[in-house]
Amino acid sequence: DARLTEAEILADPVAKIAAVGGARHPSIPLPIDLFRPGHRNSGGIDLSDISTLERTRSAVNVPVARETGDTQAADVKAAVSRAQAAFGEWSKRPVAERAAILERLADLLEEERDRLMAILVQEAFKTIPDAIGEVREAADFCRYYAGEARARLQPVELPGPTGERNTLHMDGRGVWATVAPWNFPLAIFLGQTVAALVTGNTVVAKPAPQTPEIARAAVALAHRAGVPADALVLVTGGPEVGQALTEDARVMGVAFTGSTATAKRIARTLVADDDRPIVPLIAETGGINAMIVDSTALPEQVVADVVTSSFRSAGQRCSALRLLLVQEEVADGVIAMLTGAMETLKLGPTGDPATDVGPVIDRAAYDKLMAYRQQAGARVIKTLDAPADGLFVPPTLVRLDRIEDLDREWFGPILHVATWAAGTLSETIARVNAKGYGLTMGLHSRIARAVEVAEAEAEVGNLYVNRSMIGAVVGSQPFGGEGLSGTGPKAGGPHYLYRFCAERAVSVDT
Ligand code: SER
Repeated sequence: DARLTEAEILADPVAKIAAVGGARHPSIPLPIDLFRPGHRNSGGIDLSDISTLERTRSAVNVPVARETGDTQAADVKAAVSRAQAAFGEWSKRPVAERAAILERLADLLEEERDRLMAILVQEAFKTIPDAIGEVREAADFCRYYAGEARARLQPVELPGPTGERNTLHMDGRGVWATVAPWNFPLAIFLGQTVAALVTGNTVVAKPAPQTPEIARAAVALAHRAGVPADALVLVTGGPEVGQALTEDARVMGVAFTGSTATAKRIARTLVADDDRPIVPLIAETGGINAMIVDSTALPEQVVADVVTSSFRSAGQRCSALRLLLVQEEVADGVIAMLTGAMETLKLGPTGDPATDVGPVIDRAAYDKLMAYRQQAGARVIKTLDAPADGLFVPPTLVRLDRIEDLDREWFGPILHVATWAAGTLSETIARVNAKGYGLTMGLHSRIARAVEVAEAEAEVGNLYVNRSMIGAVVGSQPFGGEGLSGTGPKAGGPHYLYRFCAERAVSVDT
């Protein structure tokens, strides 16, 4: 209860437990059940809904066919030409018609859920709960942006003193490039793409090279839902395809999710040519995301939220917790409970419903993470054994002497822990801010003033208090960062669609 002071809580731990309605579980290790009934994932789905787990298990293990062959960089121009030719007709359709197509797409995603999950499990190594959450999130994006488009994109008459009729129109800008990551190869890929489409743009969409099949499936469903074939054109392949796409001067905007380095490269590409129009870039990149825990936090809740935030999805979320900062006085207890909880995590194939942590996305990621884990040496407080076969990076906890010792994002299930001194909350937040990223931050505290300080001082796009730091829910928790973490506007939020539009004011002297 935030109304208790720190002194009161420390003086009476029982009051603290009672205040948060929890029961104490002093035993270590703490059993963590990521599948507990009532657990809500990023798509806002209740996992207790999975009444037919066996059917789901069979469905996600049906082998997925892989198409071969990527787009050649030389063919990207043809893709942009097709999308450009389709712009006139698509952009003139009424907003309500484009919105209805997105809603049909959401229905199709749900109808085809099992097949999409199979691709996510086999191609992107999503666990079953993550795959369910992702399909649901993709559908949520479609429905949310459809509703937003209806509500926000109609022309509005603006009152004023001019004596003229002033109207503000929100129009499509032309061809958008959407460049998506492998970690949300359906939800983010489609979220970016349908936002561009519903605002009247046409799209050339490029998935990450690791996840072309789920993109093919998503684009096929979009076409079935009524998006004209040339209004949404898929190109697949590596960085050379992305480079050719963003270099094309006919591309009138880019929505990108991926690394900070690639976002900067795209930004440079977009301004390199003096004759090219000035176009928007929406970028959502990484973070060195910290969670700050003070002595009033409930350790059991902290540990459950840390495990979810750091190790779910094998730590391969841009929102994931990388740096746990525990107040000195309680650090030993929290760390002991956390290492116990880590022991309960099950590594295994993603098609097995019992798996908590699957393999990482590819050999390059595996090699990088395992080399870092090796190099951390004696600073590793806890790690697990990995199954012999496959790209499994075991959840690992690494001790840091100083907050500043972590200066880059490790995109996997590796969590760092350091301590901070009582009375230095502001300074601790400032030291995290100083890293220059600004995606997610967590705070576990029962002190109202601490929550106020974090709200006022954390320079992040998403601050999470007394909960996990992943799984932003479309429409309720707009997602995206600042600084090295990106430009916004935030996905799944009320301002997102505007950035895709050309705003045109028409003033008529009547
Ligand atoms: N939207 C995801 C989350 O909130 C991260 O990309 O976890």
